[in-house]
Amino acid sequence: MRTRKNIRRIGVLTSGGDSPGMNAAIRAVVRTAIYNNLEVVGIMRGYSGLLSKQFMSMQSHSVSKIISQGGTMLKSSRCPEFKNPEVRKVAYENLQESCIDALVVIGGDGSFRGANLLFKEFGLPVVGVPGTIDNDIYGTDFTIGFDTAINTAVSAVDKLRDTADSHNLIFFVEVMGRDAGFIALNTSIATGAEATLVPEIHTDIDKLCSYMELDRRKNKTSSIIIVAEGEDGGGAIGVAQKVKERLPNYEARVTTLGHIQRGGSPSCNDRVLASLLGHEAVNALISGRSGVMIGQMQNQVVFTPFDEACTRHNEINKKLYEISRILSL
Ligand code: ADP
Ligand code: F6P
Repeated sequence: MRTRKNIRRIGVLTSGGDSPGMNAAIRAVVRTAIYNNLEVVGIMRGYSGLLSKQFMSMQSHSVSKIISQGGTMLKSSRCPEFKNPEVRKVAYENLQESCIDALVVIGGDGSFRGANLLFKEFGLPVVGVPGTIDNDIYGTDFTIGFDTAINTAVSAVDKLRDTADSHNLIFFVEVMGRDAGFIALNTSIATGAEATLVPEIHTDIDKLCSYMELDRRKNKTSSIIIVAEGEDGGGAIGVAQKVKERLPNYEARVTTLGHIQRGGSPSCNDRVLASLLGHEAVNALISGRSGVMIGQMQNQVVFTPFDEACTRHNEINKKLYEISRILSL
């Protein structure tokens, strides 16, 4: 979608769950805007800062050396009250008062829902940049932070494998992903896990137990079961409990990787993706694009209307799911 507005000052915010590489995206937005003689205002704590006018003028040096840092220098938040139209009106008035005439929103699909409403209700030029470890956003092959998160998970599971092997243990390892199994599936393939449970596929405890019995007959010295937090068997703790009831002689342990997956220095891939998308988001606003999320698909920069980016989801690769079990046999 294209709107024609003379843009002089851009606001940038990070919203929802943070992800490694958000800082690299902020840096790219700030430096590209300055390169194009635009002013940039950093909005703290996502939509919460928009409401409380936590604005700070950003210069080139404001983003020095943040490219290697995890988290987000602008901080992030969940701001449920932003679903209220009256509250969004206050946000828009705050932007107007500070002469911020366009916005870059770095976050997940929830953040884009809010951004879409600002675009539709007030005609505010807004471009979204996909930053979430979950990789579930339609309109981009990868989201910023996913690569770092899976590498963190892989390194943790490799360590768990060492101790599992030494003690002939079964480990149920819970990884993030409330609605999507990308982190679980990639971690599973990369660590040779024996089974993978994801939100997209019903958890069949009997089938899982039969896998474990087969693995035991083959004298496997350890088993790793990767459990996405949103699968329907009750998470790693719930699934481990159910398996224990059926296979009481199997010794199992549960590890939840949790927010470790959201932190840490971003990988090279995440830094590059964030730099590209942050840069192109500003170019898009300058050229009059709005109401869209910017992404990269098959090495091309693509724009997806918020309406689509918020309602559709990337699908996990079912083929990869099938081969993950075959390769661990
Ligand atoms: P993410 O952006 O990572 O998906 P959330 O779903 O928590 O994270 O969304 C981040 C924020 O976006 C929410 O706290 C809220 O401020 C805003 N948001 C989410 N959904 C909506 C909506 N339907 N309408 C307006 N704002 C929304
Ligand atoms: O959306 C990113 C994410 O890390 C999800 O994988 C996870 O379910 C959620 O955020 C956790 O968020 P919170 O820290 O708010 O519980």
